[in-house]
Amino acid sequence: MDVFDAIKGRRSVREFRPEPVKEGDLRKILEAAQQAPSAGHCQPLELVVVMDRGVKQRLVRAALGQTFIAEAPVAIVVCANVPRTSRRYSRRGEELYCIQDTAAATQNILLAAYALGYATCWVGAFDEGAVAEVIKAPAGVRPVAIVPIGKPAEKPSPPQRIPLNKIVHEDSF
Ligand SMILES: Cc1cc2nc3c(=O)[nH]c(=O)nc-3n(C[C@H](O)[C@H](O)[C@H](O)COP(=O)(O)O)c2cc1C
Repeated sequence: MDVFDAIKGRRSVREFRPEPVKEGDLRKILEAAQQAPSAGHCQPLELVVVMDRGVKQRLVRAALGQTFIAEAPVAIVVCANVPRTSRRYSRRGEELYCIQDTAAATQNILLAAYALGYATCWVGAFDEGAVAEVIKAPAGVRPVAIVPIGKPAEKPSPPQRIPLNKIVHEDSF
């Protein structure tokens, strides 16, 4: 699929069919995350692939009851291994770069999954400590996003964007 078709066609989907994600497809999606850029190539990315029903249910509870997470056959918890970046970039690495890096990886997951015929939703509303507990995150590893992946059971229409002429500025604001 053309990259522009993926960027335009991808939607946040919150209803999933139960069919599994093929192993080869999951591998491609994980590799797409791995290929994201990172500040200083510090690679803070850590990915927890959740397929266990009980673990998904616990993620739902940690994510303020967003039940669609458990409907999807797979949920990836995208995490930042903060010390990998902060060792080199101190506070800016800790507060900004490792979050930007994992956000870039998350977007790659959304686009790769869509290109392979799957739907996703970037879930960021969760109790970080509770998610860290569910996935047994070691010290210094922060959960940044949860991404359920599966075949879509709904086709949402694209939400309106603020027009380009309102957000693009020439030379300065
Ligand atoms: C950082 C971030 C956090 C988000 N958190 C949630 C969430 O917790 N639950 C949810 O249903 N959608 C969440 N979304 C999805 C947005 O609601 C969605 O991207 C937005 O409404 C635009 O729709 P679209 O993705 O179909 O273009 C999140 C998106 C981002 C980028």
